[in-house]
Amino acid sequence: MTGKVFGLGLGPGDPELVTVKVVRLINTAPVIAYPRTQHGESFVREIAKPYVPSSAIELPLDTPMAIDTAVAQAKYDEHAELIAAHLDAGRDVALLCEGDPFLFGSFMYLYDRLADRYEVEVVPGVSSITACAAAAGLPLCSREDILTVLPGTLPEEVLERELTQTSSAVIMKVGRHLPKIRRVIEKLGCTGGATYVERALNPGQRVVPLARLTDEVAPYFSVILVFRDTD
Ligand SMILES: C[S@@+](CC[C@H](N)C(=O)[O-])C[C@H]1O[C@@H](n2cnc3c(N)ncnc32)[C@H](O)[C@@H]1O
Repeated sequence: MTGKVFGLGLGPGDPELVTVKVVRLINTAPVIAYPRTQHGESFVREIAKPYVPSSAIELPLDTPMAIDTAVAQAKYDEHAELIAAHLDAGRDVALLCEGDPFLFGSFMYLYDRLADRYEVEVVPGVSSITACAAAAGLPLCSREDILTVLPGTLPEEVLERELTQTSSAVIMKVGRHLPKIRRVIEKLGCTGGATYVERALNPGQRVVPLARLTDEVAPYFSVILVFRDTD
């Protein structure tokens, strides 16, 4: 019998926001795999800390930042085979994912490589989208509002086009794209309805109206919530 892969959403950072099901699966899976940066850090392993049993076999996966290079793709091939070796030996593998596994998660690259060969179960987690809305106290959408999710990495004209067509938007992956995103929001006259959220529901959380944000660059864990006056 081959093992099964569990893609587990660990939520935005607070261990209390990990679901009961994810805790159970972390406790029972013999192998715990998780992405790790080139500096040897793993945010998601930190979230799981209270739940990982000392008996677990740990499989840190050194994960590249860029996904579209041949080097990065080769890395994902390598990770899939590391996981497959455990599955072939009959061991289940719990793969820890920050937020939700199917929302901009590197889990997807492993899912693509494993799901046609092995049984995979995906367990959703609290995403940064809902975490940021909760942190800011800003309801995302209601009635017939349209909510759009945009990566801040998009070209300026695409951001502008998409923002023009929605009632509210969550702009993720802000980072060094902050000046570009701010320019688009200002051009559309939406600065008053925009809120910057950094490290939502984590120590060091910041919620700042975009109009008052003086930073030029944002850290990795940040989003901008935009509410347009569409009435
Ligand atoms: C690669 S995506 C992963 C998203 C994750 N799978 C999810 O469900 O939220 C990383 C982006 O999510 C956003 N993000 C994740 N956690 C966050 C947090 N606690 N506060 C603010 N933004 C966060 C940031 O925009 C970051 O650049």
